Amino acid sequence: MFENHMELRFRSISQNEALARSVAAAFAAQLNPTIEELTDIRTAVSEAVTNAIIHGYDNDPDKTVYMDCRIEGELVTIRVGDEGKGIEDVELARQPFYTTQPDMERSGMGFCVMEAFMDGVQVESAPGRGTTVTLQKWLKVEHHG
Ligand SMILES: Nc1ncnc2c1ncn2[C@@H]1O[C@H](COP(=O)(O)OP(=O)(O)O)[C@@H](O)[C@H]1O
Ligand SMILES: [Mg+2]
Repeated sequence: MFENHMELRFRSISQNEALARSVAAAFAAQLNPTIEELTDIRTAVSEAVTNAIIHGYDNDPDKTVYMDCRIEGELVTIRVGDEGKGIEDVELARQPFYTTQPDMERSGMGFCVMEAFMDGVQVESAPGRGTTVTLQKWLKVEHHG
């Protein structure tokens, strides 16, 4: 079984959202995914990183966002973490249209987008401690490899 792993940490600024999604996509590209699968990964990572920066850290540029990516066979697992304010009620936060920042033109659809584009989305969070979002996708190598 092919296995690989990488970690990235970066400043909590919006410019790094593009960096993180590109790195995750480049890493997943080792499994020879379709363009569509890569777009799905980019979109989901983008939502998770944006949440870490704007919600977890309230746009504080002095904080650090963590990402680690893992390949186990055909499974790609990407974890995006922050040590920010955390989520009081994860189940509620994952509901469509739920947002705590409606004034900032947030749609409240970030978690729904992650769920739509990935095969698995887990959210671990502790108020005052931070949040880790785990995104998983199966890339069926034999269909286009
Ligand atoms: N990393 C995070 N840290 C703290 N709160 C978060 C984090 N990610 C999401 N949330 C909370 O979950 C809510 C829903 O997130 P999401 O579905 O992406 O919608 P939106 O970002 O448009 O508000 C956010 O409004 C916020 O309250
Ligand atoms: Mg969001």
